[in-house]
Amino acid sequence: MTQGQFHTVRVALGARGYDIKIGENAFETVADFLCKNHKGRRVGIVTDENVAATQLGRLNKSLEAAGIAHMEVIVAAGEASKCFATLEMIVEALIGARLERGDIVIALGGGVVGDLAGFAAAITRRGMDFIQVPTSLLAQVDSSVGGKTGINSRLGKNLFGAFHQPLFVAADLTALETLPARQFASGYGELVKHALICDEDFFDWLDANLDEILARGPALATAIARAVAIKATIVAKDEREAGERALLNLGHTFGHALEAAAGYSGALLHGEAVAIGCVLAHEYSSRLGLAPAHDGARMAKHLHRAGLPTTLADITVEPPTAPELMTLIGQDKKVTGGALTFVLTRGIGKAFVQPGVDGVLVEAFLKEKLE
Ligand code: GLY
Repeated sequence: MTQGQFHTVRVALGARGYDIKIGENAFETVADFLCKNHKGRRVGIVTDENVAATQLGRLNKSLEAAGIAHMEVIVAAGEASKCFATLEMIVEALIGARLERGDIVIALGGGVVGDLAGFAAAITRRGMDFIQVPTSLLAQVDSSVGGKTGINSRLGKNLFGAFHQPLFVAADLTALETLPARQFASGYGELVKHALICDEDFFDWLDANLDEILARGPALATAIARAVAIKATIVAKDEREAGERALLNLGHTFGHALEAAAGYSGALLHGEAVAIGCVLAHEYSSRLGLAPAHDGARMAKHLHRAGLPTTLADITVEPPTAPELMTLIGQDKKVTGGALTFVLTRGIGKAFVQPGVDGVLVEAFLKEKLE
């Protein structure tokens, strides 16, 4: 739905439901939201040093204009900040500034800041409310929506965390103007994933509008809103991933293992790993006779046009071996009772969750792909 200059998507979770506003200058909706719904609350903004340099001034200005008292906590940019030391620093900065349980944390940044600040909000004074203000495409279409928050363990990504839904999400397209092309493409990998899961018409629309989306033209807002609406519908049905929400992990079982093998370095960004993971999930599904090969070719062509890698050969670091990848896959949160759960597909827009996948077959498939 579009209201005024913003697309609005609702995450229908009853009393914990919330709106996502998407559009140019969506930062401004945060002050409006606070004044209407949480007058008098103080705000602790958590951001990283890069976002602080480019975006914090814009958000501060709109909060100041609305008379909202605020403080800031600035962390180092990058995945390494999703650790206990940084979490502790944030929590103590919020408490040290005497923010009360009824005050509000704002996560201003990409996925790292959103996950970290959301988790800090979940545990500070036994739980503060928070608002997501995602500034990367990846965070706008995925991590800012749905309430997954957390930090990394040395044993794997996001292994400490909590489900903690935000009060509100403001996805500001103006903030994307400074996003480097490779980061934008990585975010697009998560965006198109939603079409690949359950909406072939959306995939066709993305294919027809890809040039305008990559040029960050008006089609971008529509694309983000449609992807987020798919995610919101799935989250509303299965908030804690007891079943259907696992669909959102399409491409992630292979993708997370590839990211881990690349040492979570800049050599392979999350959305790049997801793009390769989606192609592998499709190829594996084709191998099982489930998905038509021509859909895989359409998908790979589209991802390639978007500037994303699509094969294991596209990874620039030393490729892992198939047993190494299987060890990493075995550490994934999607393992239940020692058995692997994969998101497989019957074609574009027809993904499904498959528990009890045979690891021996997957390893043989990966070995072949790595040859
Ligand atoms: N990123 C997948 C989820 O939110 O469930």
